[in-house]
Amino acid sequence: MITLPQYPNLYLIDHPLIKRDLSILRKKKTSNVVFRTVLFRLTKMVAYEVSSNLELNESEIETPLEITRGYTLSEEIILVPILRAGLGMADGFLDLLPDAKVGHVGLYRNEETLAPVDYYSKFPGALKSSLVFLLDPMLATGGSASAAISFIKEKGGSRIRLVNLVAAPEGVRKVHSEHQDVPIFAAALDRELNSSGFILPGLGDAGDRVFGTD
Ligand code: PRP
Repeated sequence: MITLPQYPNLYLIDHPLIKRDLSILRKKKTSNVVFRTVLFRLTKMVAYEVSSNLELNESEIETPLEITRGYTLSEEIILVPILRAGLGMADGFLDLLPDAKVGHVGLYRNEETLAPVDYYSKFPGALKSSLVFLLDPMLATGGSASAAISFIKEKGGSRIRLVNLVAAPEGVRKVHSEHQDVPIFAAALDRELNSSGFILPGLGDAGDRVFGTD
């Protein structure tokens, strides 16, 4: 992971296969079918990277030959995709963390004000004791992520990691100023937002590209 002194809450995942797949997602000509397929593959690699310091329980296990030390994950994990685009990351995480429970936060941005509008939320009961991975391919102004983190905290969640594919400096700064306890893991830190609040260079509207609504 790469860290930058000006963004103390940001951990950039640095892996050639992730860079290759993110480039496919960025391309305008990538079809919805390919976008979904590559998003799944990329998200699995991201899930692997952001799980690298999960805590383990040790126990004795029996191989066909002898007794040895075995491991299980000691933490309950809850995935919270931010609807809609975050849904495109849920399957990749579930592939590596099949015991995880899944909560949902429904938010969309008002296209004029860019303020997040919430329309749905539902969380598993164990929110308080679990480690939460909040999933959204894009962190633009940070309004949606920051609101989703506030929802999770209101329901008792306290250990939250935000996982994005592309993040804009504006969003990283907003999440840091409003939720200093939440680390952000991202595959790329992009340059800036345009006047419509889109990430540059970005990958377009991930929700539209996942669901074919563009
Ligand atoms: C996009 C994206 C994030 C949000 C990022 O969702 O998936 O949730 O915008 O922007 P922000 O950081 O400025 O809040 P969008 O509003 O397009 O909704 P959708 O996923 O339903 O398409």
